[in-house]
Amino acid sequence: MIGITKPQIQTLKLGQSDNSAKMQSTRVNVLGIGGSMRKGSFSTHALKLVLEEAKRYGSDSRVLELREVRLPIYDPSGSVSEESYREINGNRENVLDTVTKAINWADAFVLATPDYHGSMSGAMKNFLDYFWEEFAGKTFGYIIASHEKGLTVADQMRTSVRQCYGWSMPYNISINGGNDFNSAGNPINSALANRIKMLARDLVTYGTLIRKQFLQDVMNKEVSDSYASRYREYYN
Ligand SMILES: Cc1cc2nc3c(=O)[nH]c(=O)nc-3n(C[C@H](O)[C@H](O)[C@H](O)COP(=O)(O)O)c2cc1C
Repeated sequence: MIGITKPQIQTLKLGQSDNSAKMQSTRVNVLGIGGSMRKGSFSTHALKLVLEEAKRYGSDSRVLELREVRLPIYDPSGSVSEESYREINGNRENVLDTVTKAINWADAFVLATPDYHGSMSGAMKNFLDYFWEEFAGKTFGYIIASHEKGLTVADQMRTSVRQCYGWSMPYNISINGGNDFNSAGNPINSALANRIKMLARDLVTYGTLIRKQFLQDVMNKEVSDSYASRYREYYN
C-alpha cells in the first residue's frame, strides 16, 4: 500500500443543508458520485480512496452509489413515477428525495465513472440531468476508469458541470483497473497514489474557498456583478 488509507466512507446520512451555518463553517462537505452499475467497480473504489483522503484534509465525505439508488430515467415533465420509490428499512422512500438532499448537503463533488464508448456511463449522465442550480458555485473533481485515460470522458463531464455553473478541477484521475490496484484493492502505482492525495487536498482546499465566496456573494444583496447573484432566489 503506497501511503493511502483504506476507505471507510459512509453512505450519506440525510439532512437538509443550512447555508447560513455553512457560511461560518470551515468544513467542506464532499459528496462522491459512483457512476458504475458494476459491483466491484474500479472507479467507485478509487472514489472511496479519494473521499477517505479528503477526510484527512478536513472534509466530511460521503458517497452516493448510483447502482444502489437506481434513479429512473430523467423525465423533464417532472412526473414522479413508481420507479422512484424503494422499500428502505421497511419504509417506502422516494429515491429522488434522498438524492436531492444529498446534493444540497454537498459543497463539492467527485464524479467517478467508467469510460463507456469514450463517454461517461448512462447512469452518470442521467444523474447529472436531474440537477442544475444545485451545482452552481460548487467544485468538481473527476475519476475515470478507462483503458485509454478517459480524457474525452472527463471533458464531457466538465462540459455538463460548466453548463450548470459548477467549477472543475483542472486535472483528472485516470485508473486502468487491475493494472493499478492489487487484489486487496490497494494502489500499486505510486503516481496514482500521489494523484489521489493531490485531488483530495485540492478539492478540499479550493472547494472550500469557492463555496464560501459563492455563498457570500449570494447572500450579499449589494453584489450584483457576480454570477452568484443570479442564484439569490434559488437560495431563499
Ligand atoms: C459498454 C462498454 C463500453 C466501454 N467502452 C470503453 C471505451 O470506449 N474505452 C475504454 O477504455 N474502456 C471501455 N470500456 C471498459 C470500461 O471502461 C472498463 O472496464 C472500466 O474499468 C469499467 O469501470 P468500472 O470498473 O468502474 O465499472 C467499456 C466497457 C463497457 C461495458
